[in-house]
Amino acid sequence: MTNPFFITGIIPEPYFCDREKETQQLVRIIENKAHILLTSARRMGKTQLIYHVYEQPAIKSDFLTFYVDIFPTTSLHEMVLFLSKEIYSNLVPKGKKALNFFLSTIKSLTGSLGYDPVTGMPSFDVKLGDIHNPELTLQEIFGYLEKADKPCIFAIDEFQQITHYPEKNVEALLRTYIQRMNNCLFIFAGSNRHILESMFNSTARPFYNSTEQFHLERISKEVYTSFALQQTTDAGKSLTPEAASLAYDLFEGHTYYVHHILHNAFANAVPQKAMDEEDIRKALDEVLDTRSRSFSNIMNKLNFKQKETLVAIAKEGKASGVTSVAFVKKHALSSASSVQYAITTLLEGQLLTYEDDGKTKVYSVADRFLGYWIRKNY
Ligand SMILES: Nc1ncnc2c1ncn2[C@@H]1O[C@H](COP(=O)(O)OP(=O)(O)OP(=O)(O)O)[C@@H](O)[C@H]1O
Ligand SMILES: [Mg+2]
Repeated sequence: MTNPFFITGIIPEPYFCDREKETQQLVRIIENKAHILLTSARRMGKTQLIYHVYEQPAIKSDFLTFYVDIFPTTSLHEMVLFLSKEIYSNLVPKGKKALNFFLSTIKSLTGSLGYDPVTGMPSFDVKLGDIHNPELTLQEIFGYLEKADKPCIFAIDEFQQITHYPEKNVEALLRTYIQRMNNCLFIFAGSNRHILESMFNSTARPFYNSTEQFHLERISKEVYTSFALQQTTDAGKSLTPEAASLAYDLFEGHTYYVHHILHNAFANAVPQKAMDEEDIRKALDEVLDTRSRSFSNIMNKLNFKQKETLVAIAKEGKASGVTSVAFVKKHALSSASSVQYAITTLLEGQLLTYEDDGKTKVYSVADRFLGYWIRKNY
């Protein structure tokens, strides 16, 4: 029996929840030939949405589509490696002609990219050290995209990563190439809204005003819960509306978390008994137990002030006015200035996140499971 709540890999069509309006809007932006900046909170569903857009008939038939996640990269060398590997992997199944055309454009990597001399099979053996001149290889990659036999869409996920590269001119360099291209659209995606929006919205930055901006919100409760009920029924089990509602509310509809809990509850359920609220809570406890060791490790690496601040915010759920006397006193914290400093480092480490409601910053623990785990254990 297939568990209809996918928590890994690319979600196949019948198990993909909603995003109808978002998909339509993104397809329309692409058809109007604009680049896209796609942001959302972590684990809201950006990556899945990009793949879903790629599967739409209008996109699938008319474009070559590429996707690369540059989160692990810390230099232009690595970015170039990731981009070329993605193009290579996409072209291998398309046959020799397509691949050969790419190989003939990427001259700077001749020797590490091509066919295995013994087996004759396509092989990709580029090492970071083989990329002697990343700017040149990048130019060749963009040259290929410009000349490919179909228009291209290239999604670069976690794009904010380029601001951490040691090379100083990466933003300007990329912008210059991209501006000149007619055959390739880019989807820049990422969860660090703050960094991304300042990259794309400051007049002084190279990417200023170069994209249509799209912020992905949660799926509505009505749509999500009826999806959950329908999927469960189709898969031969059942779920009470109250339980679906609880799964949504526990995480304010935050996709990955809701899906994970539904996945686990479904895995434990038997066809004879509908999953109820109790089963949802059990599924949550189970996830917290499984992750206990790794959450302990996270806490273990924090200093006292970071820890007390993280715990205070976890207990609040959503915390505003964190440097106020009232907040410091309520949670017996060291001082307002130590909270401020701890928050800066916790944000950098992506343990905290915030929403700006216009007036003030509202902080919460970025990983909602970690938030629950802290509340349970501290
Ligand atoms: N439309 C959807 N239908 C069903 N499940 C979804 C959908 N969108 C997201 N999910 C669930 O949420 C998980 C996270 O989605 P995804 O990886 O796309 O998020 P993300 O915003 O790219 O996360 P990150 O910030 O970590 O890169 C998926 O593995 C899946 O379990
Ligand atoms: Mg992602």
